[in-house]
Amino acid sequence: MRKKLYIKTYGCQMNVYDSARMAELLAPLGYRPSDTPDDADMILLNTCHIREKAAEKVYSELGRLRAVQDDKAARGGRTLIAVAGCVAQAEGEEILARAPQVDLVVGPQTYHRLPELIAQAERLGPGRGVIDTEFPADEKFDALPEERMTDGPAAFLSIQEGCDKFCTFCVVPYTRGAEFSRPAADVLAEARRLVAQGAREITLLGQNVNAYHGAAPDGRGEWGLGRLVRELADIEGLARIRYTTSHPRDVDDELIAAHRDVPQLMPYLHLPVQSGSDRILHAMNRGHTADAFRRIVDRLREARPDIAMASDFIVGFPGETEADHAATLDLVGRVGFAHAYAFKYSPRPGTPASAHDDHVPEAVKGERLAGLQQLLAAQQQAMNHRTVGRRLPVLLERRGKLPGQLVGRSPFMQSVHVSAPERLLGHMVDVDITHAHPSSLHGTIATAIWESGEVTQERAAV
Ligand code: SAH
Ligand code: SF4
Ligand code: F3S
Repeated sequence: MRKKLYIKTYGCQMNVYDSARMAELLAPLGYRPSDTPDDADMILLNTCHIREKAAEKVYSELGRLRAVQDDKAARGGRTLIAVAGCVAQAEGEEILARAPQVDLVVGPQTYHRLPELIAQAERLGPGRGVIDTEFPADEKFDALPEERMTDGPAAFLSIQEGCDKFCTFCVVPYTRGAEFSRPAADVLAEARRLVAQGAREITLLGQNVNAYHGAAPDGRGEWGLGRLVRELADIEGLARIRYTTSHPRDVDDELIAAHRDVPQLMPYLHLPVQSGSDRILHAMNRGHTADAFRRIVDRLREARPDIAMASDFIVGFPGETEADHAATLDLVGRVGFAHAYAFKYSPRPGTPASAHDDHVPEAVKGERLAGLQQLLAAQQQAMNHRTVGRRLPVLLERRGKLPGQLVGRSPFMQSVHVSAPERLLGHMVDVDITHAHPSSLHGTIATAIWESGEVTQERAAV
């Protein structure tokens, strides 16, 4: 029987990847993805616990979903509600206490067991939540279906999970567990399958993706991320490789060399630094100074001069002074970022920083956030303006909001909008950039290809 599955994904790209894998896992049970929760047989919230706001969103959504469940029940049906992801892992039982209509709670390391858990929930009937938030030893990837439904031209591939860094503000080591790298042979096989299904770009994912140390295919030793990237670049038809999110401490010589030598490795790197103050970096347990971060960026730029840097920042970490904040602004000014996220520090249950007694007042956090965001926005806009007049390769990934419009990414991760026929979807084209907006670019497809009427395979492989 065909059943409707509605998935809502919060948080980072790992969750986006996990949601796709859960949809694949549920397909043999008859579940087909749907765009709305209305009339769904199963609703799956894949949740994020990183900041308080992210976690609270889940509860308000669960409140709204009651109506959907009641509607279906009035017609004699049942909507199963599953909570997956990091809130599930962190709060487990508490979710059932706060939202008793939830049928199952499943963690990021146990979602491969969803089919059994669903069967269990169906047997038990409403109001009897089933929970599975264990950390079983490395069995998830072996249990997931090999075949991937295609993500389209730009696909995600999880290669590393978990984190052992224990930054004092962060819940990830608790929600995702200990660091684990998939064997290189498995990663290469999944990448080949994705490319065979039409992926032209693969983004390698991990909480600390450059801590990757997967078993080598010949069973002798381990490969780091740099080595893995080199081998992936040999896959015919794979035009672009990206990876996210990385940690400054794990940027090694091999990875920097890959940025120099592998043209498929895109010149864009998201490398969170969090703060420019050494005192705060130390209190955060980041394990690097502001200068060390700058030296890494310098070396990356030596290797790949056009590399666009992106980052994450936290303002208002406990004890942060005006001088500390000024040091962050100074670092931003010196490095120059193409893109960055800035967040107000949010105390998270169970993390060491949440126990400090020198929390920064909300109003101060707000001011610091606004100042930092203004500087980062100006840098992003300047970066976007510098591309006007240039011809950039763009992988057209999806339809735009306007009719006849397609959207893709530049090598530097900028969204690029062009007028183009549908048949160019999934192709790499050259685009002359004509306009820069605060967070996107507009351009026209370079005439040589446009007028030839067809994009040849060779051209599309550039
Ligand atoms: N693994 C990555 C980032 C994971 S979380 C890294 O090591 O940097 C994504 C971002 O959320 C972090 O980079 C950080 O900027 C932000 N973040 C994490 N915990 C937070 C908290 N308690 N309050 C505010 N922002 C937080
Ligand atoms: Fe969190 Fe730090 Fe691990 Fe990143 S490195 S996931 S910020 S603990
Ligand atoms: Fe959020 Fe979990 Fe990702 S807490 S940021 S969904 S690893």
